[in-house]
Amino acid sequence: MKKNLGAKSWIYPEPVLIIAVYDENNNANAMNVAWGGIADENRISICISPEHKTLKNILVKKAFSISIGDVKNVVACDFVGIVSANDDVDKMKKSGFHFTKAKNVEAPLIDELPFALECKLISYDEKSCCCLGEIVNVCADENILHHVGKIDLIKFEPLIYDPCNHDY
Ligand SMILES: Cc1cc2nc3c(=O)[nH]c(=O)nc-3n(C[C@H](O)[C@H](O)[C@H](O)COP(=O)(O)O)c2cc1C
Repeated sequence: MKKNLGAKSWIYPEPVLIIAVYDENNNANAMNVAWGGIADENRISICISPEHKTLKNILVKKAFSISIGDVKNVVACDFVGIVSANDDVDKMKKSGFHFTKAKNVEAPLIDELPFALECKLISYDEKSCCCLGEIVNVCADENILHHVGKIDLIKFEPLIYDPCNHDY
């Protein structure tokens, strides 16, 4: 027999999306987003509150990358979700993440995370906090591939967020 738990924003698996952007001086910032997913063939939807530094930068640069958190980097993935660059200018230095510019968009890729989407901003709606991006490229480290272009989930070890217990 099922027990009713009420209206919640819970889904399983819930992703650990690490959004990375440059600011107007090309300093990189990143944040953790659990509320997001594929909208259709080449578009992704993420829900970002307007006060986040990352969102301000996305609106300036009109581009961002979305890496998927992995088990190896759980501490850094969580860190970028609990500290804001609005409060700590050394956020990224403290996170331990390093960045390389993406080839196809004006956004940083996180060196430590092996899988990422390169996205262009399509729209942002402040009322719903819905940020819609066009996926212009997917890139992955060779060491998580088992054939050309195929991701090996065992090697990748993507993180799953548990929204009910606030854990990974
Ligand atoms: C597991 C996890 C999931 C999160 N999901 C979201 C989300 O879906 N949308 C959002 O706006 N903030 C989310 N946050 C909060 C931001 O990541 C957090 O406020 C971050 O510090 C913002 O950084 P910034 O101001 O440097 O951009 C999440 C945080 C954690 C730890």
